[in-house]
Amino acid sequence: MKVLLIGGGGREHALAAKMLESPMLEKLWWLPGNGALEGRAAKVSDIDPCDGPGIATFAVHQGINLVVVGPEAPLLAGVVDCLEEKGIHCFGPSRAAARLEGSKAFAKEIMVKCNVPTARYQVAETAAEAVELVAKWGAPVVIKADGLAAGKGVTVALTDQEASRAAAGIKGRAVIEEYLEGPEVSFMVLAQGRAFVPLVPSRDYKRVGEGDTGPNTGGMGAVAGFHLLSQDVQEQICQQVIEPVLNQLADMGTPFKGLLYAGLMLTAKGVQVLEFNVRFGDPETQAIMPLWEDDVLEVFAAVARGGLPGGLTWSGRKSVTVVAASGGYPGNYSTGHAIDGLEKLPAAVKLYQAGTKIEGQKLVTAGGRVLAVSSVADEVEAARQQGYAALSNIDFTGMHYRRDIGK
Ligand code: AMP
Ligand code: GLY
Repeated sequence: MKVLLIGGGGREHALAAKMLESPMLEKLWWLPGNGALEGRAAKVSDIDPCDGPGIATFAVHQGINLVVVGPEAPLLAGVVDCLEEKGIHCFGPSRAAARLEGSKAFAKEIMVKCNVPTARYQVAETAAEAVELVAKWGAPVVIKADGLAAGKGVTVALTDQEASRAAAGIKGRAVIEEYLEGPEVSFMVLAQGRAFVPLVPSRDYKRVGEGDTGPNTGGMGAVAGFHLLSQDVQEQICQQVIEPVLNQLADMGTPFKGLLYAGLMLTAKGVQVLEFNVRFGDPETQAIMPLWEDDVLEVFAAVARGGLPGGLTWSGRKSVTVVAASGGYPGNYSTGHAIDGLEKLPAAVKLYQAGTKIEGQKLVTAGGRVLAVSSVADEVEAARQQGYAALSNIDFTGMHYRRDIGK
């Protein structure tokens, strides 16, 4: 099979590495890719990942049979719609179904329509309206920019002052939401219309600082394993969240195909949905791929062609992923710093590159989240220790990471 993977982060490196294990893979193109997999994937750097017609022309020319879309932006730009018009199978939803991630207000409307448990909310059309609403609600309150924001459009305001500052800074529409408390879980399923198959549960560590402090990031680490959710709660999530939303989208004539991600909070009053994503989580994917025992290329191809596997095979072990970021991230940071020590990584851990590129012969930093180390063991603590020991071999100027992932 000739496959094109779109995206250039750690999630895509993890997807690519797993697809490269498949005997069905003939050639892998990676648009735009990053510094990883030199010589194993053909990097495509001259097409914009959101340029549907451009990607379609390229795919037809190269005889590509399957396109796997990693990030949300190409999905919202309608890349899948463009490719499918040309008869190219895609793993990922249509633009219409992708709105579930593209607009928080739309996601809330859908949830209300089908009674999915989620925080109470109001929509503000302008910053002024947002300021008024948060003043009425009072802290603690959550302020969310309506559109895509790479995980950084959400402020959990614990004081009135913080709430009013965040609301005043909103550009365009915002969702003002009730503050909820509890552990978070990422629940991903492969979906085809109304049918779906769950993946192993995972958890993302979104705050930059240890003990969940500081601003939100794209994700500083993850754990994965069935220990995160009891069988009962998994079933509850399937029945109360996944099924109704998939049915609602199908009823609206915009059935979902690909990967649906529910960001959940396990509160005292039960499971509540914080957000939906319409693609694999980053960095959750870096944690789940080492536990996934199927030929994922076969699975993605089946979903892209309109099918769905009957079940998936998982290792019963646990996985811990620690992200190393550039100094200053999620604020301003500098790039172009040499990454040292990768040759010292033990074979037992997986290295997933994110913001990296090759400059001359050297691998250098090129983004906020630079790389991740994923480690698998029977218990989370053992995976943690193995992962952190491996990560201590790596160094680049400004490198920082959380030391409490999996704790
Ligand atoms: P979201 O992008 O909507 O998942 O929000 C990003 C992060 O903000 C979540 O992972 C939570 O940690 C936090 N968050 C979002 N919504 C709420 C809420 N209603 N109450 C408390 N924290 C929230
Ligand atoms: N890890 C959260 C996300 O991918 O949006």
